[in-house]
Amino acid sequence: MQTLQPTDEMKKTDTKSVFVHTFGCQMNKADSENMLGLLNEIGYTETFDQKDADLMILNTCAIREGAEDKVYSWLGAWNKIKKKRPGTLIAVGGCVAQDEGQKLVERAPYVDIVFGTHNLFRLPELVMQAQETRKHVVEVFTELPEDLPELPVIRQNDFSAWVNVIYGCDYNCTYCIVPYVRGRERSRTPAELLKDIRELGDAGYKEVTLLGQNVTAYGHDLDPKIHLGNLIEMVGEVEQIKRIRFLTGHPRDLTADIIESVKRTPTACEYFHIPVQSGDDRTLRRMARGYTTDFYRRQVDEIRSRIPSASLTSDLIVGFPGETEEEFLNTVRLVEELAFDSCNTAAYSPRPHTPSKSWGEQVPEDIKFERLRLLNTVVSEVSHRINKRLLGQTLELLVEGVSQRVETRLTGRTRTNKLVNFEGSKDLIGKFVNVKVEAANPWALRGTLTTGDTN
Ligand code: SAH
Ligand code: SF4
Ligand code: F3S
Repeated sequence: MQTLQPTDEMKKTDTKSVFVHTFGCQMNKADSENMLGLLNEIGYTETFDQKDADLMILNTCAIREGAEDKVYSWLGAWNKIKKKRPGTLIAVGGCVAQDEGQKLVERAPYVDIVFGTHNLFRLPELVMQAQETRKHVVEVFTELPEDLPELPVIRQNDFSAWVNVIYGCDYNCTYCIVPYVRGRERSRTPAELLKDIRELGDAGYKEVTLLGQNVTAYGHDLDPKIHLGNLIEMVGEVEQIKRIRFLTGHPRDLTADIIESVKRTPTACEYFHIPVQSGDDRTLRRMARGYTTDFYRRQVDEIRSRIPSASLTSDLIVGFPGETEEEFLNTVRLVEELAFDSCNTAAYSPRPHTPSKSWGEQVPEDIKFERLRLLNTVVSEVSHRINKRLLGQTLELLVEGVSQRVETRLTGRTRTNKLVNFEGSKDLIGKFVNVKVEAANPWALRGTLTTGDTN
């Protein structure tokens, strides 16, 4: 494993500021933290005011067309800022940049730097190059380098950390752009991960989330081969880390061994995000998901019979090409039947480099959105029902911050990933507290603090 060594020229002494805005999944958020770490080595510190920034970075997501459209509207706004501050550099990274490369500067010529998902570690060089030449710098790799460089990181908080454990995805779901923009699966070694996670523990972190587009496939490409459960148990040995989470699982790769490891590891949270995508077998086959609804039901049984307190969440797509009304209703029925704690739902969006994009029988937009509306209603009814069962219970939370709605309210998460709001002072942020649940809505709970700072 080679470590990036900034050259003396790169370690410029004058401080500059960088503003980073991140779209997309947790992996993108983790990548942004690496961008900040990398840029810090050449003298950039983060600013939260984009108008002050010497460098503005948009870390993009290509999962749906809407996400991509947002990129161009943000860039348009940044162009206006740049006109007022001509020295400002604009960089675009992430999944849209990986896909579009040169096309991005053709469409938005005021963008200075385009870099992809496989060459993050090159960011300092690319920025230096743009600073010096004031010409477009476009660099996109087709795959990750053979030796994954160790990346410096500046994290968004000092108690909960995202840790990428496996990059890429080897599935080829017929709707999904991720394999194209993130490449083949590559697991990081347990030795390297444990070193990082022990350092996090020493630095006072209490929670880690092990990340991968298909985290349940972790380790299959390593020699010797290991599985996610082995990694979870190893992380469970790191004394200071009190909560271990993992995202996102694929139903096919979730084995009884992984579930058992979660059960055996006291610090592993009993929370499973295992997207089913559709509740209809014909649709699942056409999505190339590689399982049936019955297989998925058995997986849910495995989880719930081994860990009855587990929470279960999912992602669902409506309006996949050719999806009939009846097939859509099978998804609604599955949500009712399996009682997901919550679900991310989306209307199917045709993406470049995916087979289903050019299939006939695209579902009209108005029908997709009508289905989405109905599904959302059912998803939130089910969530509400489940959340109401928690009324009166006292739950342990890791306090994450101030509630977005009410200034005096704090927000935290249970081990099962439920969001709970309560009144409390800001010094509890990053601490464990106990809260008695007094109200429940579909998305969050409200409660009263019973014990502040439980350790
Ligand atoms: N690896 C995960 C999901 C990663 S992408 C899995 O296999 O389940 C995150 C979510 O975006 C997916 O679960 C899916 O629900 C949604 N998604 C992906 N492509 C989409 C598309 N073309 N249109 C709508 N939603 C999509
Ligand atoms: Fe996309 Fe399917 Fe891979 Fe998930 S498993 S990232 S949905 S291709
Ligand atoms: Fe989006 Fe890329 Fe993540 S497409 S969902 S940011 S892997």
